[in-house]
Amino acid sequence: MTAHTEFDTRALRDALGRWATGVTIVTAPDGDGFVGMTVNSFTSVSLDPPLVLWCIGLDAWSLDAFTEAEHFAVNVLAADQIELSNRFARRGEDKFADLDVEIGLGGTALLPGCVARLQCRNVDRHDAGDHAIVIGEVVAIEHADRQPLLFHAGRYGRFLPADR
Ligand SMILES: Cc1cc2nc3c(=O)[nH]c(=O)nc-3n(C[C@H](O)[C@H](O)[C@H](O)COP(=O)(O)O)c2cc1C
Repeated sequence: MTAHTEFDTRALRDALGRWATGVTIVTAPDGDGFVGMTVNSFTSVSLDPPLVLWCIGLDAWSLDAFTEAEHFAVNVLAADQIELSNRFARRGEDKFADLDVEIGLGGTALLPGCVARLQCRNVDRHDAGDHAIVIGEVVAIEHADRQPLLFHAGRYGRFLPADR
């Protein structure tokens, strides 16, 4: 490996993309409906109190709705939900058409078939560069025994347990 001290955004994205993550869809209420977007910047912050964070681009169409919402839900995707991930990574359009969602606390959308779902109270926002860090207090949790969807170097994948 060679360290580069001068790099463009593309090179930075390529390096950051080597950080393997899960994939979530974060939702919030918006008028009579919902907003939702595919997010892999999600991470846990604190166990006591239970806090999580994720980052939203300041140019996101749904930024205002996520900022104003009192709650958001983090839907952790399963390995067979790639189409859903792609659908919610498209800007603006009606992403919830034909989806059988459950309504969560504060009017969030809980998606079927996920690995885990976290319902959160929207407690803080810190702007940082071209993104905002959104912090939530976890108020309800559930999880299922399903294979998670993973994301690495711009590609989806599955978890392969190590031998030891
Ligand atoms: C795997 C994956 C992860 C993503 N993670 C984020 C993220 O953490 N934060 C973000 O702002 N956008 C992320 N995006 C891009 C958004 O999903 C995309 O910009 C979406 O269109 C935003 O929705 P909106 O503009 O309708 O609000 C990700 C996209 C993909 C495919």
